[in-house]
Amino acid sequence: MQQQAIIDATANYVREQLEGEGSGHDWWHIYRVWKNALYIASQEKGADTFKVELAALLHDIGDHKFHNGDDTVGPRMVREWLERLQVNNALIAEICAIVSGLSYRGAGTSSAMPTLEGRIVQDADRLDAIGAIGIARTFAYGGHKGRELYNPAIAPVLHDNFEAYKSNTAPTINHFYEKLLLLKDRMHTSTAHAMAEKRHHYMKDFLTQFYAEWNATDHLEGD
Ligand code: ADP
Ligand code: NI
Repeated sequence: MQQQAIIDATANYVREQLEGEGSGHDWWHIYRVWKNALYIASQEKGADTFKVELAALLHDIGDHKFHNGDDTVGPRMVREWLERLQVNNALIAEICAIVSGLSYRGAGTSSAMPTLEGRIVQDADRLDAIGAIGIARTFAYGGHKGRELYNPAIAPVLHDNFEAYKSNTAPTINHFYEKLLLLKDRMHTSTAHAMAEKRHHYMKDFLTQFYAEWNATDHLEGD
């Protein structure tokens, strides 16, 4: 199968699987990550764009968050799909390695990604976790999981292992401190880091306004 035919078939498969998903892991998340990954690859040079595209498209198939924390489901589904397309084994192993290593695992854990393609896709996925879209996705996820918006009595936790991070059920605002505000300085590529700056400041402004409204102090600010 030609590379373009593999990309097209994979995009169709992922779209069918994730279309209409309600927690911010829908097809349009994948689409944005795919396009941003291609943009970052075009700026960074040296990446194999076929691998970038395949990994971006497949990165949330069988995500652990929707399989009781089991992070072996995703790579297994990716392998099965690529075997159906008769992609060679070495390439399947590379894509599975990227998909397995992509997820955020807690504030005190490493985000090391051995390949340039993996670093690009991880940056693109993380860009979609921050900024205006990041805020929207985070509250969509919190609602999907039945979490409180905010509870001042529950402090954020900087998890130092994946198990603790995965089993956390804290209010959604905590996720900003446990992940979202930490992502800017964990971008691998300078292209993504530059894009993250604006999104990061937008989230900080959002939080300032959120607390002002929460504490009924927003009337004190001049206009
Ligand atoms: P990752 O694999 O790194 O978790 P995803 O693309 O699967 O990345 O999506 C992560 C997004 O899911 C987060 O950025 C956030 O929007 C949402 N999310 C995950 N965990 C939580 C949580 N505990 N509270 C709120 N949102 C969450
Ligand atoms: Ni994702």
